[in-house]
Amino acid sequence: MNVLRFTDLIAAGKVAGQRVFIRADLNVPQDDAGKITEDTRIRASVPCIEMALKAGAAVMVTSHLGRPTEGEFKPEDSLAPVAARMSELLGREVKLVSHWVDGVQVAPGQVVMLENCRLNKGEKKNNEELAKKMAALCDIFVHDAFGTAHRAEASTYGIAQFAKIACAGPLLAAEIDAITKALAHPKRPLVAIVAGSKVSTKLTILKSLANNVDQLIVGGGIANTFMLASGLPIGKSLVEADLLEEAKAVIEAMKARGAAVPIPVDVVTAKEFKADAKATVKLSKDVEADDLILDIGPQTSAQLAAQLKAAGTIVWNGPVGVFEFEAFSHGTEAIARAIAASSAFSIAGGGDTLAAIAKYGIEKQVGYISTGGGAFLEVLEGKTLPAFEILAKRAQA
Ligand code: 3PG
Repeated sequence: MNVLRFTDLIAAGKVAGQRVFIRADLNVPQDDAGKITEDTRIRASVPCIEMALKAGAAVMVTSHLGRPTEGEFKPEDSLAPVAARMSELLGREVKLVSHWVDGVQVAPGQVVMLENCRLNKGEKKNNEELAKKMAALCDIFVHDAFGTAHRAEASTYGIAQFAKIACAGPLLAAEIDAITKALAHPKRPLVAIVAGSKVSTKLTILKSLANNVDQLIVGGGIANTFMLASGLPIGKSLVEADLLEEAKAVIEAMKARGAAVPIPVDVVTAKEFKADAKATVKLSKDVEADDLILDIGPQTSAQLAAQLKAAGTIVWNGPVGVFEFEAFSHGTEAIARAIAASSAFSIAGGGDTLAAIAKYGIEKQVGYISTGGGAFLEVLEGKTLPAFEILAKRAQA
């Protein structure tokens, strides 16, 4: 994708002394006391800020945090804990500025954080007047918030339209590169794992990937619907019976292209959905009427691991079993270890997937771990995200 990159501007010496507005995604989880429980997104946003400071820019960084009501400040919506964590990571104070839309004081070599941008009236609806005011704060707008790349809001889209220069920050650029490598120009075979509880929430993704991938591995509740569509018994497992025809259509579309949806040959079942429920491995054809399928079985794991080993590219979204319960975690662990051992380029994204990656400690063996939740899913749906669209447009102008 042809977008202007912040690194190019730096290399061309165009950043020194400039006012740089960075839109980051610092939307991190917090506990009830406001303590940050997971700071990946903050750490991932540091390189862009450091890069801008090193180049001699006057740096402003903002983000949304949660979904506050515009114009109604509540202490829990404040980026204060994020600014404190950012200060630690940068090793310098990052002052938090409230009410910043009409002007910000920041000198070259300094960085300030602008309070939760979703507190500004008009942010969500991409109000033009607000976007123009934000654009006027800077000489260079840097979009580095992949997690919000699927949103067209004033601080993500409108500002990119009206800023003198709009470019992609290093995090957004890395996401663009990884997505392009995995989905636009993949080394084949391209294997996708799409798992989760419901077909309905991932139907568009399944349909879109069915046109592109060589193997479409389904897991979790999604696999149950596909098993039933293939004529297998699934007992009382989670299923969406009204989507059987859709599942059949995906299987047929894959077959017609000489590709496949591997259906589990064996599974791990229980009679109850409980961490200490008795786990029984059985062939898929032997699932009983009162069984719950909670994981793929060892034969299926071995078969899928072999396919992942032979893959050129792997896209992973979703654990294949109830991996939070030890007895039903082995399928997801086998998939994770197979991805880690494969020489394929792999890209993974989505909350549960990241939790599985962390649980099995394979962060370093995954080619690229996306910081996007909804944004990553929309990429898999084959959509062009608003952030990419507007930056590409600006690069042409
Ligand atoms: C996310 O957490 O996925 C992003 O920060 C986007 O948040 P949003 O869904 O509130 O826009």
